[in-house]
Amino acid sequence: MLAHAIVHEKGGYEEWLKDASTFTGPLNELGAKLYQQRGCSTCHSVDGSPKIGPTWKGLFGKQRNFEDGSSATADENYLKNSINNPAGQVVAGYPNSMPTFQGKFTDQELNGIVEYIKTLK
Ligand code: HEC
Repeated sequence: MLAHAIVHEKGGYEEWLKDASTFTGPLNELGAKLYQQRGCSTCHSVDGSPKIGPTWKGLFGKQRNFEDGSSATADENYLKNSINNPAGQVVAGYPNSMPTFQGKFTDQELNGIVEYIKTLK
């Protein structure tokens, strides 16, 4: 069987994991770190440029319209639900292609991502 390996710099991933679980800095910095390390940056920009998913710039507090015609305000609960259950509310105009991160983040990490998004005005 062929294995698909992602090679990290010497000790990089382990170091980072340790760092994230013991992170004591500001939550938004934890979020910025997770954005890079967990691959959110593949599909989401933070500067308004288009990618597979919506940009995070100006996202917090914005009205979101969904494929099913419903809408909601992007508050903390909405952002966390979007991460845990992306297929639950699919943003209009975007594919339902985000993987679920249910169970992949601690509460602190989820809060970190939300705090990071809040800084992206
Ligand atoms: C493979 C591409 C992909 C990756 C990787 C990805 N997303 Fe997404 N994301 C999307 C797409 C496409 C949407 C819009 C459709 C939907 O709502 O599910 C979306 C929607 C969202 C939304 C709602 C955005 C809005 O404008 O209302 C949030 C919040 C979000 N993603 C967070 C994350 C986080 C956090 C990560 C990393 C842990 C991540 N995403 C990784 C593709 C991705």
